[in-house]
Amino acid sequence: MTNVAVIGAQWGDEGKGKVVDWLASRADVVVRFQGGHNAGHTLVVGNQTYKLSLLPSGLVRGKLCIIGNGVVVDPDALLAEIARVRAQGLTVTPETLRVADNATLILPLHPALDNAREVARGDRKIGTTGRGIGPAYEDKVARRAIRIADLAEPETLSAKLDELLLHYNTLLQGLGVAPFVKETLLQGLLALAPQILPFAEPVWERLDELRRGGKRILFEGAQAVMLDVDHGTYPFVTSSNTVAATAASGSGVGPAAVGFVLGIAKAYTTRVGSGPFPTELHDATGQLLGDRGREFGTVTGRRRRCGWFDAALVRQAVKVAGVQGIALTKLDILDGLPELKICTGYRIDGAFCRHLPASPGAQAAAVPEYETVEGWSGSSRGARSWADLPAQAVKYVRRIEELVEAPVTLLSTSPERDDTIMVRDPFEG
Ligand code: GDP
Ligand code: IMO
Ligand code: MG
Repeated sequence: MTNVAVIGAQWGDEGKGKVVDWLASRADVVVRFQGGHNAGHTLVVGNQTYKLSLLPSGLVRGKLCIIGNGVVVDPDALLAEIARVRAQGLTVTPETLRVADNATLILPLHPALDNAREVARGDRKIGTTGRGIGPAYEDKVARRAIRIADLAEPETLSAKLDELLLHYNTLLQGLGVAPFVKETLLQGLLALAPQILPFAEPVWERLDELRRGGKRILFEGAQAVMLDVDHGTYPFVTSSNTVAATAASGSGVGPAAVGFVLGIAKAYTTRVGSGPFPTELHDATGQLLGDRGREFGTVTGRRRRCGWFDAALVRQAVKVAGVQGIALTKLDILDGLPELKICTGYRIDGAFCRHLPASPGAQAAAVPEYETVEGWSGSSRGARSWADLPAQAVKYVRRIEELVEAPVTLLSTSPERDDTIMVRDPFEG
């Protein structure tokens, strides 16, 4: 028995929420360890659809949920999300949700700067979610962030706000945005404090107790390896490390506690926001994938860009994140396509390359090399065993396994919780 870390292996929206919800039945606790409310996870359970951004997806199963220190927490967004899911009948109390007291807060000045910078970038914009994620992580690294525990100390808040405003108001004014007033921010935080602090604790200590008690931990990643601030398509990335190693530092456990690394990949590729996307399709097939796959951002509502499965990209994600098994999702969206293409590498300035290089010029110049695979006429939608899958669909999955150099240990065939095929239980290691 081991713990499991679930991470995205492409550019996000692979179906991590569905997979975490499904796996949560086997776990005792679910932990978010990075990102913030830039994440958008859709879970379909019978006739209910839950859209979660900051709350761990284990909540729907009534599991203990933890928001780790590596997450950037917008307190307003957290309280609004709690109210939203409570209205859907879920229970959220300080008994079921714990938030790291050393997690960084997102304040209203963070989205203000995030959005002002995007406007200033013009055509070169990153296409951020506008939620202040980047500026909040910058503050953390710059050692000026306000953290959850600070909410209990009005003097600390006051001093930190002085330092923050010196920095932010200078930048915002330079970008033509109205400055923030300290007293308004301070009163806002003091008003939020009694609502947030009951959830706060040193979560590393609780995780240590749970581990010693033999409990199973499920770490829930947000975003994906190609959006990782080091390993992704920089600068078109998010501002955190999204690889599985972050599960340890982002929650306060040792690396050995992370356990089995499950990488989630869609049977094709999507991306929101700007940046390189070698296998992107601008034709009717791209349109079809987007329509059928309902590829609209949960957070932004923006249409996701769609393209063929990029095995070179996923292989790279497998290597840098230490992925031991793949959960392949949305195979059903490919039903009925006469033929499919899989990218096996790139041609860059005439030379073949098996991975996406780090330099933006090379990334932009990368032309995918494809192999063509026969499609299938039957339906894979809702399949719950390999025997239910069209033979050609099984072949497609097998080819993906070979190319990405990792086994497919889980297969998802519809948005519904139980339309999932387990090849190997990740908790068994
Ligand atoms: P996440 O950010 O990785 O959690 O993924 P999102 O929830 O943002 O996007 C994945 C979308 O695909 C959601 O609307 C899911 O309900 C849906 N989904 C997940 N798995 C499947 C699948 O196997 N087939 C289909 N058709 N939809 C799926
Ligand atoms: P989930 O967890 C897809 C993208 C944004 C943008 C870039 C930087 O649902 O998979 P940010 O606001 O983080 O500074 O934006 O990252 N992005 C995501 N794309 N899924 C996500 O989360 C994302 N979170 C951020 O679109 O391109
Ligand atoms: Mg999403």
